[in-house]
Amino acid sequence: MEAVKVIIDEAIAKELDLRNLPLSSNTFSIVDLGCSIGPNTFIAVQNILEAIKQIYQSLSLDYQIPEFSIFFNDQTSNDFNALFASVPPNRQYFAAATPGSFQGRLFPEFAVHFFHSSNAIHWLSKVPEELMDRESLAWNKERVHYTNARQQVYDAYASRSLN
Ligand SMILES: C[S@@+](CC[C@H](N)C(=O)[O-])C[C@H]1O[C@@H](n2cnc3c(N)ncnc32)[C@H](O)[C@@H]1O
Repeated sequence: MEAVKVIIDEAIAKELDLRNLPLSSNTFSIVDLGCSIGPNTFIAVQNILEAIKQIYQSLSLDYQIPEFSIFFNDQTSNDFNALFASVPPNRQYFAAATPGSFQGRLFPEFAVHFFHSSNAIHWLSKVPEELMDRESLAWNKERVHYTNARQQVYDAYASRSLN
């Protein structure tokens, strides 16, 4: 998380355009996809929140700093009770759970300003079928990775739909 902080800080400084930011109710919404039960997710969202505040402060717009809503997302099987039992008591945001797969639709349009995901969005919900088919050129010999695999294996992963 600490190593990634620099990258997040730079991305926010470069991409966050405060002038064109649609903030309903002066609330900035952040999502962590595949949050698990902590504590990494708490460090990540705190870093993001501080980087955003920093932008406002650097422009002397402290008085415009919004409130923050954090949506912690993971599969419904995630232990959200454990997550919320350890959410930092001194947090500067409103915490909510968004259960369900990030491979489906989780939010209404324009509801989220910042998506974060660490070590999560590379997980697929199922193996592309052709990888399991011994007759297929994409047969992956029961491996769960595509390192040094045939082009057809790469293609099967690349073309796989998200559902
Ligand atoms: C290795 S953990 C990473 C946890 C945390 N983001 C971190 O960096 O420490 C991967 C998490 O992604 C979640 N995950 C995997 N596929 C998912 C999906 N389709 N939708 C939501 N969460 C998913 C898992 O349940 C797990 O909690």
